[in-house]
Amino acid sequence: MATLNERKVAVVGCGFVGSASAFALMESGLFSEMVLIDVNKEKAEGEALDISHGLPFAKPMQIYAGDYKDAGDAAVVVVTAGAGQKPGETRLDLVKKNVGIFKSIIPEIAKYNKEGILLIVANPVDILTYAAVKFSGFPENRVFGSGTVLDTARFKYLLGEHLSVDSRSVHAFIIGEHGDSEIAAWSSANVSGISIHDFCEMRGHFEHEKAMKEIAENVKNSAYEIIEKKGATYYGIAMSVRRICEAIIRDEKSVLPISSMQHGENGIDGVALSMPVIIGRGGVEGSVPIRLSEQEKEALLKSSETLKAVINESL
Ligand code: NAI
Ligand code: 2OP
Repeated sequence: MATLNERKVAVVGCGFVGSASAFALMESGLFSEMVLIDVNKEKAEGEALDISHGLPFAKPMQIYAGDYKDAGDAAVVVVTAGAGQKPGETRLDLVKKNVGIFKSIIPEIAKYNKEGILLIVANPVDILTYAAVKFSGFPENRVFGSGTVLDTARFKYLLGEHLSVDSRSVHAFIIGEHGDSEIAAWSSANVSGISIHDFCEMRGHFEHEKAMKEIAENVKNSAYEIIEKKGATYYGIAMSVRRICEAIIRDEKSVLPISSMQHGENGIDGVALSMPVIIGRGGVEGSVPIRLSEQEKEALLKSSETLKAVINESL
């Protein structure tokens, strides 16, 4: 069994998302070795070369195309392999095809890598995270999905624009499915400790209901708009992958809304979805039970039922 290299990452799938993530990871300086794996080996080789040519402007590291054996000692394996949505398709429409791909790649990863963390990015990410837990046999704390980290970034960005404030000072989460049933957790949203409504009024905004509806819809529909306009989304998710890897490798104990297996929290069981958790070198190290209104709890339960129905049909 290969001993883990704490400074090594593997990226499986080198399409738009995999290559943008690999580029963001190269720039991060977090790793000294990165292996790129794709069923299309030439694509992985091309991306490895192209990204390597940026190294004189970054920090030294080895970047190369390889196979699953080369991922055996990676501390983190980022899985982006799978079809993306075409205009008009939902994430859940991808389930059949991508569960099929996961049936072949997850056991290959687990054959060579026994101790690493699996970070699932391909869609539908909550269903594929559940599938990866089952197909890998890894402990659940070491298999999680990027979940609503991206949606939460979109939420913070839009709130920052609305309130003319640095989006890093906005503390707010999108929870549940990374998809159409996701929930904006307004009841815990704040700007540096000031409740979101109070901050809105400080900035001259008083039509709370209207603004909340518009912002949450805008977050939910961001991917549809981008896919309609440019065919795929990849920069936002690449930064999300980088942020999650940073929390893991630097053992930051950061609170991030990743997708992980639920066991009774908020009445939800046997499904992977996003709630804020503590992320460190041990992967998912603890849950963070943010305050939710009754309405938000109900919507979360509904989101979990949507996902459970898909799991029952497809796995
Ligand atoms: P893409 O089509 O550009 O790339 C997919 C890559 O996977 C291709 O290079 C393909 O050769 C590779 N691949 C397919 N089957 C494979 C296999 N069996 N083994 C190894 N590699 C394989 O797609 P894109 O745009 O990169 O999207 C990838 C996935 O990421 C999609 O499912 C998409 O929906 C998802 N995504 C997830 C986001 C999130 O927030 N979780 C954000 C954006 C996209
Ligand atoms: C996104 O939200 C399509 O899941 C992808 O950008």
